[in-house]
Amino acid sequence: MLYTTFELRINFKNFSLATAMAIKKLLSFLFLQLTLCLLLLDLTNAESLKLGFYKKTCPNMEGIVFKTAHRYISRAPSLAAALLRLHFHDCFVRGCDGSVLLDSTKNNKAEKDGIPNSSLRGYDVIDAVKSAIENKCPGVVSCADILAMVARDAVSMIHGPYWDVPTGRRDGRVSLASETIPNLPPSFANITLLKQMFAAKGLNVKDLVVLSGGHTIGVSHCSSFTRRLYNFTGNGDADPSLDPKYAAHLRVKCKPEDANTIVEMDPGSFKTFDEDYYTLVSKRRGLFQSDAVLLNDEYTRNYVKHQAATHGSSFTNDFAKSMVKMGKIGVLTGRAGEIRKQCAFVN
Ligand code: HEM
Ligand SMILES: *[C@@H]1O[C@H](CO)[C@@H](O)[C@H](O)[C@H]1NC(C)=O
Ligand SMILES: *[C@@H]1O[C@H](CO)[C@@H](O)[C@H](O)[C@H]1NC(C)=O
Ligand SMILES: *[C@@H]1O[C@H](CO)[C@@H](O)[C@H](O)[C@H]1NC(C)=O
Repeated sequence: MLYTTFELRINFKNFSLATAMAIKKLLSFLFLQLTLCLLLLDLTNAESLKLGFYKKTCPNMEGIVFKTAHRYISRAPSLAAALLRLHFHDCFVRGCDGSVLLDSTKNNKAEKDGIPNSSLRGYDVIDAVKSAIENKCPGVVSCADILAMVARDAVSMIHGPYWDVPTGRRDGRVSLASETIPNLPPSFANITLLKQMFAAKGLNVKDLVVLSGGHTIGVSHCSSFTRRLYNFTGNGDADPSLDPKYAAHLRVKCKPEDANTIVEMDPGSFKTFDEDYYTLVSKRRGLFQSDAVLLNDEYTRNYVKHQAATHGSSFTNDFAKSMVKMGKIGVLTGRAGEIRKQCAFVN
């Protein structure tokens, strides 16, 4: 439009043809630039989470989230780990769209019932926060945003870092158990696979080693690592990359077929968000192969050793940054998806 108006005027004023052509070229160049700018704006708009998204529509939202989550976590600090992991599983499967919170239905087996669910906990905390929010501002705040904020609050309540959570996520309507295994790294992943699976989500090697530090809190079922203790290569052997003394200690806790016992991932401080994880991994005491293999890549190894040697000098800062990044994976914004009324059900 702009372009045609100018063109008309130029002709009208009887410029020399050469001048008119030059101006026309300039204008079409500018027009192209403008189109490119708009296109870029549009692309970034697809993930335009922002701070204070609910400032007008639900002013005290973050306070309600914190208060409700605090009521649960102060009574049961081990829930903090569960809530952090829930956000991770949400984001890696279909983006951070709350799909991990949906229940299965008669015709659909949801993520919750996929194999790697083995122990996801904390759904009741999210439900409680959601209903507290719905009481104040119904139909406004997404479950996906609530999960992102609760994960942040949970970490900060157990002496971890605090970070601002950009919001504006919308809730998805789809949740498929079949999408969990292809998207969530298994505990036996090697470093190549870990890097690939993180890259597929737009996360780099630094994010991988930093976010793995989430294993400084929480527990694991024996079944997630017994192969490393008893039958690593199928010849009744242990994983040589696991400290033999630690392996012996773990064999006492976990018998080969034990599916129920849980062990602390960071023994002694599994309820405190600290930098012990890197000390453990550097001493070959990481619980999973996915922890141990961080020593097999130059970048991740250097990071592990540096954090271990400096008592986590930059870990908490790095963790906050990578969490914000993880929280943006595949988000639905604008008019996509919906704002669920209840986190376990689509509207
Ligand atoms: C790098 C790839 C990862 C693998 C292979 C992995 C694997 C696992 C496994 C197998 C468990 C134990 C499940 C069980 O047996 O009960 C677990 C627990 C946990 N993971 Fe990861 N994880 C990874 C990344 C992450 C990330 C990025 C975070 C968060 C930033 C995270 C946070 C947690 C937490 C907090 C727990 C403890 C949950 C609880 O206490 O209920 N993990 N992870
Ligand atoms: C995990 O999935 C199994 C079936 O695949 C189901 O029986 C179990 O209840 C699920 N666990 C959770 C915590 O949702
Ligand atoms: C890493 O794991 C993948 C998938 O399990 C496998 O295909 C690949 O060969 C492994 N790479 C190395 C270097 O062991
Ligand atoms: C060890 O693994 C091999 C190969 O997977 C299997 O044939 C064997 O039965 C396992 N042994 C034990 C004690 O589980």
